[in-house]
Amino acid sequence: MATDPIFQPLKFRNLTIKNRVLRSNISGRFDNYDGSGSQTRINWELKFARGAVGAVLSSFVSVAIRGRIMPNYATIDRDDRIPFWRELGRQVHELDCKYILQLSHAGRQRDMQGIEFAHVKGLSSTDQPEPLNGFECERMTLKQIKETVDAFAAGARRARQAGLDGVELHGANGYLITQFLSSAINDRKDKYGGALRNRARFVIEIVEAIRKEVGDDFHLQVKLSSTEFHNALSPREPPGNTLQDSIPIAQWLEEAGVDALHISSGSAFPHPKNPPGEFPVAEALETYDVMLSSGTNTLRNYLMLRSAPLAALYQKAWNQARGDVIEGINLPDARAIKQVVSIPVICTGGFQTASVIRRALKKGDCDAVSIARPLVANNDLVKMFAEGLDQAPRPCTYCNKCLVNALENPVGCYEQSRFDSREQMIDQILSVFQPAPFA
Ligand SMILES: Cc1cc2nc3c(=O)[nH]c(=O)nc-3n(C[C@H](O)[C@H](O)[C@H](O)COP(=O)(O)O)c2cc1C
Ligand code: SF4
Repeated sequence: MATDPIFQPLKFRNLTIKNRVLRSNISGRFDNYDGSGSQTRINWELKFARGAVGAVLSSFVSVAIRGRIMPNYATIDRDDRIPFWRELGRQVHELDCKYILQLSHAGRQRDMQGIEFAHVKGLSSTDQPEPLNGFECERMTLKQIKETVDAFAAGARRARQAGLDGVELHGANGYLITQFLSSAINDRKDKYGGALRNRARFVIEIVEAIRKEVGDDFHLQVKLSSTEFHNALSPREPPGNTLQDSIPIAQWLEEAGVDALHISSGSAFPHPKNPPGEFPVAEALETYDVMLSSGTNTLRNYLMLRSAPLAALYQKAWNQARGDVIEGINLPDARAIKQVVSIPVICTGGFQTASVIRRALKKGDCDAVSIARPLVANNDLVKMFAEGLDQAPRPCTYCNKCLVNALENPVGCYEQSRFDSREQMIDQILSVFQPAPFA
């Protein structure tokens, strides 16, 4: 371990983590409807801290109630949220792990509106609905942009007051910041649209506002979809931002005071490139129904999935758009971005083999990797690497059943072939409720 690249500490400008594996962001409906945090959320994050990752990157944590993806995700939109995040951070720290909170806003990509903004459209850079589900939206006014920039800054201030180790801006996967950055989505005619620099204005203003609010010595990173593949499933759509667009964006973010970049892909979530793997039709049919009232296309999509031949066509298109590479799918982009910035670059996407991660680190393709599903499958994966295993005995199959279940059921591994029995699988999923809050 003394010479293993995976177990070398990683020094960011304002933060050091003990190794090169971060738990990637994983949203689950573990919290209270109103956005207050729960014991279940704490149990969830501690599983990974116990598993010896260097840092946990939180799930999508909305800076405004109108900007959440769905109810039951903890938010950071008010000062009375601070004690919850403080307690979560304290318990993660006791396990010698760092905690970075993902400051987020869904924009138009709201899977399920809560009652607070029922029948109120999502905010976006555009007034065009999101193409897959038909989520409707309204084009943000300059005043709404300013309020949202301030909400991100206030979220960062609360994370700092809670004693957390840093924040990450969710600038990837089709959420609000992507909706501004994207050449395929942003159709504004004002100073926030058009040329790349204008489209980047929103995220740069957020970075500047955060620096003004929390100072220069608090860790701040940005998750970016370096290539959007906006036309992955609909060839009539434009492709969106390419790596060539993201290279200057990465440089501007560094200049503005960002401490690290986290490289992902895709202009929506989920997307064939992210999380890379299968599209599990049977499981999706069991949970997608909760979105039927959310978008103008959701009923059409649901009926399509119920037709075996159409679902098979969709699965085929999904796999073709994904391509053959799963583990390290974003490494070529991470490498290209690393060459143009001097801040650390974290890469996400399919990692679960020590030798693959080691090679990427040694070649300088990235400075660290973030892992989501393989850690859901094997919470102790990093400990296994430390013991000399190259892979977990029962690796993640990239089936994405955890992902589609997350709409309705607790996040956990739903791939029964990885367990001795269904009961064992269910016990693993429900273990997130232990310890119970009043035990
Ligand atoms: C159930 C689930 C929830 C996720 N939630 C988030 C999220 O809240 N924020 C985010 O940036 N990415 C989210 N992701 C994407 C992961 O952070 C990660 O970048 C992606 O799954 C690729 O990594 P993996 O192949 O290791 O899973 C989620 C992924 C899954 C499977
Ligand atoms: S359900 Fe389990 S095996 Fe399938 S992608 Fe999720 S963690 Fe991996």
